[in-house]
Amino acid sequence: METRRKMAAKPRSRGRVLCWWPPLSAALLLLGCSPASAAASSSSCQHRVPSGGEVVYKVYLKENHVLKRNVDQKLRIKTIYDRSVEDLLPEKRHLIKNKLFPQAISYLEKTFQVRNPTGTISLSRQCATNQYLRKEGDPHRYCRGACAEHTRCGPVVVPEEHLQQCRVCRDNGHCGPAGLPDQEGVRDADFVLYVSALTTERCGQENIIAYAAYCQLEAEMDRPVAGYANLCPNMISTQAQEFIGMLSTVKHEIIHALGFSAGLFAFYHDDDGNPLTARYAEGFPPFNDSLGLYQWSNKVVDKAVRLWDIRGNKMLRHDVFLLITPRVVEEARKHFDCPILEGMELENQGGMGTELNHWEKRLLENEAMTGSHTQNRVFSRITLALMEDTGWYKANYSMAEKLDWGRDKGCDFVMKSCKFWIDRKKEKRQLVSPYCDTLRSNPLQLTCRQDQKAVAVCNLQKFPKELPQEYQYFDSLNGVPSEDLPYYGGSVEIADYCPFSQEFSWHLSGEFQRSSDCRIMENQPDPLKNYGAEKYGPNSVCLIQKSAFVMAQCRKKLSYPDWGSGCYQG
Ligand SMILES: *[C@@H]1O[C@H](CO)[C@@H](O)[C@H](O)[C@H]1NC(C)=O
Ligand SMILES: *[C@@H]1O[C@H](CO)[C@@H](O)[C@H](O)[C@H]1NC(C)=O
Ligand SMILES: [Zn+2]
Repeated sequence: METRRKMAAKPRSRGRVLCWWPPLSAALLLLGCSPASAAASSSSCQHRVPSGGEVVYKVYLKENHVLKRNVDQKLRIKTIYDRSVEDLLPEKRHLIKNKLFPQAISYLEKTFQVRNPTGTISLSRQCATNQYLRKEGDPHRYCRGACAEHTRCGPVVVPEEHLQQCRVCRDNGHCGPAGLPDQEGVRDADFVLYVSALTTERCGQENIIAYAAYCQLEAEMDRPVAGYANLCPNMISTQAQEFIGMLSTVKHEIIHALGFSAGLFAFYHDDDGNPLTARYAEGFPPFNDSLGLYQWSNKVVDKAVRLWDIRGNKMLRHDVFLLITPRVVEEARKHFDCPILEGMELENQGGMGTELNHWEKRLLENEAMTGSHTQNRVFSRITLALMEDTGWYKANYSMAEKLDWGRDKGCDFVMKSCKFWIDRKKEKRQLVSPYCDTLRSNPLQLTCRQDQKAVAVCNLQKFPKELPQEYQYFDSLNGVPSEDLPYYGGSVEIADYCPFSQEFSWHLSGEFQRSSDCRIMENQPDPLKNYGAEKYGPNSVCLIQKSAFVMAQCRKKLSYPDWGSGCYQG
């Protein structure tokens, strides 16, 4: 696929890429008496927009009279587990079927209502060749020659009982049904989610944990009615500390399949049910060959230019894509307290899978629909607003989670580079938070995450190569010769290399040991290594330490080299 080649040609981030927990390795640092490594990391999500042949558009769903009345219009997601999930080791199967998916779907069903509920979903069959036809006055699509032997949704073969009858046009011009009649379909559902655990080529090549997308859109409103989520079996972790991260990954992925995808922008509708992008031949929006996507109108996404301060008192023009649908604009303005903000910026980095499919990481760092998992992921009002602005859902905003990052920071924060922000704050002798400007050094200088719930470290670091000019932000840094300044930036590329404090995890010989989240009891250090007399648990918070501790029991009598903050009972 096109997308893939482009992604491969553009090397990106480090380590394990992806959708996405757990965090992994970067620098090796010696800690205390035993060697271990501390790594703050982010792994980006490659939401691959499905290509034309993989998606069936305009699937005609029959009126269904036995439909159970869906009184409150709660979104009903019907999960179908593929055989591959049943074949997993019992621990992993249990995790997926009894915990991850039920919890993720329960959250989404509580959060979203659907505007046009469907009764029974029967999927349209794929064609043997990707050639299909439509007849005037007939809502079905016909395959030229023959239907495919199997209809797939992503990597999953759709069960026969979910399929409509095959319809074909033969070479003699005669069109009609062929083979088995319409099957029973999936009743009382608004969305069918096929969940698989297949070791696909993508799992191996991209080192992904999970990926998901839509595969069929209904005809009336273009709403996705079927999609898939594949978990790469080797990457599923049953470790308790990783559950929260896996759960938000699953929610994130399903949200891509339900609506947040650059492949769906051109299909969004307004509140009256009219498409936001004009339709042309056979009711489709125009296709943009260079993007490989249906081209959205400027009622959905628009371009803007930011005046962008960089190193050496220079300013560049920085082009951005903004999501500009009404509720997103309103929520973004409120969140940042910037009444002139035109829309919410979309990710501009990370390759075809990440850019445009996520919120800009620099601006919404730990929002769950940014392109990577760094820490403390939350689904905010802005993501709920986007889901409403698709025209397909209504959202219950009391299900939104509180997002602290960027809140009330104003237009200077949301419309300028982080250099502008850091410089202004320094001039006024104020904290540069939520950014930071302390070098990742040995020993680590520890601090606290913005919400005080985890120990954190500033991710400012030296890169092996100069950063692109538009991401060079520092005119000076303590102890760094000026000719080296172009090499310094935050470790997270998709945050435009802006440095910020990040939680991290400890690794020993590549094995995950513990994270720096104060509220997780399992993170309590071994008594012999508890240099800072820390206490982890549900009520603990991160506090700044006044001085370094000395670890007396340690044979070499080293003082604990990393200090600055720790977790204590609040
Ligand atoms: C296709 O997308 C590219 C990149 O955004 C844009 O420059 C171009 O104008 C688009 N083409 C059409 C026909 O809209
Ligand atoms: C919205 O969610 C809250 C919290 O879960 C719940 O109490 C409330 O009943 C929901 N409102 C609607 C209209 O579903
Ligand atoms: Zn994603």
